[in-house]
Amino acid sequence: MSRKVIIAGNWKMNKTAAEAKALVEELKPLVANLDADVVVCPTFTSLTAAVDAAAGSNVKVGAQNIHWAENGAFTGEISAEMLKEIGVEYVIIGHSERRQYFGETDATVNQRLKAALAAELTVMVCVGELLEEREGGLTEQVLGTQLRGGLADLSQQDMAQVVIAYEPVWAIGTGKTATPEMAEETHAYVRKVLVDLFGSETAETVRIQYGGSMKPGNSAELVGQVNIDGGLIGGASLKADSFAELIKNAVS
Ligand code: 13P
Repeated sequence: MSRKVIIAGNWKMNKTAAEAKALVEELKPLVANLDADVVVCPTFTSLTAAVDAAAGSNVKVGAQNIHWAENGAFTGEISAEMLKEIGVEYVIIGHSERRQYFGETDATVNQRLKAALAAELTVMVCVGELLEEREGGLTEQVLGTQLRGGLADLSQQDMAQVVIAYEPVWAIGTGKTATPEMAEETHAYVRKVLVDLFGSETAETVRIQYGGSMKPGNSAELVGQVNIDGGLIGGASLKADSFAELIKNAVS
């Protein structure tokens, strides 16, 4: 089964609209001929600039969160339809920073995911264990709970629009990467849960990204693993040359 590599840059709270435009312009020619889905995820206020700059290229644009309601009294929130209207095609849901700082739970991940699917956005659903959970031998239990809760009630058809991002929390922004063997073992477990939930045929088609200190120097080995189908990149996605190099090495 060959799954197309998907590499997304999660810019987090970085890059003004002008900076986003410049970064996408610089990135476009560097990734134009690479056989991968390339996505950049700027802040809400930089999305339109990124969509305009990416027009006609193979760079796609994603948001970093959405609210689950279509509209209503939710001060400060943004709906899936609002993003769809401005040309956004992807969204990250359930990032560990949202779980840690903003009270995101598996239940709200599930609500946001359903809203994103209804708006025909492709979703990158983040799961991952804390250091103490890994050290306590709880990784599989934590991931199983996050996947079963986050993906509750989804159909096999829905999974065509879903990508799973496995991000061990202890590897995010720390320079500590899971070894390729360790990451592969965990990705294989994620796929096993997907088999339980959706059957093997569907599970084989779902792409699973690795995230956590992925860089140009380790992307080839990580994405070279059987069950690692791409990456969700923080720091190394903020410069066009390092992000392009990382993607090039991942697809090589
Ligand atoms: P880093 O690549 O900076 O470790 O961040 C990973 C991440 O959180 C992507 O969502």
